[in-house]
Amino acid sequence: MNSPQLIHLPKFLDNRGNLSFIEEKNHIPFKIERAYWIYDVPGGEHRGGHAYRHLDEFIVALSGSFDVVLHDGHKEMKFSLNRSYYGLYIPRMMWRDIENFSTNSLALILSNGGYDELDYIRDFDEFANDVHNQ
Ligand code: TYD
Repeated sequence: MNSPQLIHLPKFLDNRGNLSFIEEKNHIPFKIERAYWIYDVPGGEHRGGHAYRHLDEFIVALSGSFDVVLHDGHKEMKFSLNRSYYGLYIPRMMWRDIENFSTNSLALILSNGGYDELDYIRDFDEFANDVHNQ
């Protein structure tokens, strides 16, 4: 999958509370090597502002809501995440900004690799150049 995609997850509705889950290579198209989460984001702040050369990710709003703004080097796409039973698959080489966090929002991000600062592209012009030279 080379393009970003909203993926619906299984949802078990229950009077005792609802349950959803994710299985690697089943609901998301990669093996999960790392999970991290973003929380306690002050009002008006945004996260991201970079692309990854080799990392694929899946991001879900476990609580609250936020917007994920993606750029593939040609066009911008905006996704609003506000439910814990679906998330956004973001393939590698996709510029991302995460913004408009609601109070107490919690973003869970699953990734196909460990943290590697060398995999980041933090300059948008460099990113756009790399896309066009691919
Ligand atoms: P960064 O990926 O820049 O945050 P954002 O979510 O805004 O894209 O990460 C911020 C800092 O956290 C970075 O300097 C290094 C550290 N970090 C890790 O050590 N391990 C991780 O798995 C992640 C995601 C970040």
